Amino acid sequence: MSSIRKACSMRHPSLSTELPKGMIFPYGDRALPGRLAEDYQALLALCDRLEQVADDLPGRIDRQDCLILSRAIGPMLNRIQHFEETEIFPVLLEWPALHGELLETIERLKLEHQVDACYAEDVQDMLHGLGEGRPHISSDAAGFMLRGFFESLRRHVAHELQLIVPLIELVLRRNPSAA
Ligand SMILES: [Fe+2]
Repeated sequence: MSSIRKACSMRHPSLSTELPKGMIFPYGDRALPGRLAEDYQALLALCDRLEQVADDLPGRIDRQDCLILSRAIGPMLNRIQHFEETEIFPVLLEWPALHGELLETIERLKLEHQVDACYAEDVQDMLHGLGEGRPHISSDAAGFMLRGFFESLRRHVAHELQLIVPLIELVLRRNPSAA
């Protein structure tokens, strides 16, 4: 079992002593896990709405919904990715016991952010075309694009829910100075 998994499962008694005493996490904030969990729920809700659009293709499209989604995807993704990269990941990387192993995982998550952000631009444009009644790709292609996007995003969020939320809770719980 990796040290990250041990930390998540809370079965690694030595971790509490691996944190330097009095260590201050510069970005520490006890509300972080709650904010993060809310953001993940928002992303999963977004995925559900995109799946609904895909299911409604080609004849039952709600154009207004497509326009709303086309405007929401970019800013929502951008805000949440920025929050993770500037407030969550740095807190985790301050944890010396896990730094090496986490670094690789976090670099991969950041790479996924970039891929999702690029993909989101295409989905945004496609939804805008659907919303305006001027689709620029076929319904099959639009459905394929939507499913590729939300399935990838769901996998990313599932991974972060399983790994990042428990870790950030653990780090903050074991470091009383991070208020
Ligand atoms: Fe993420």
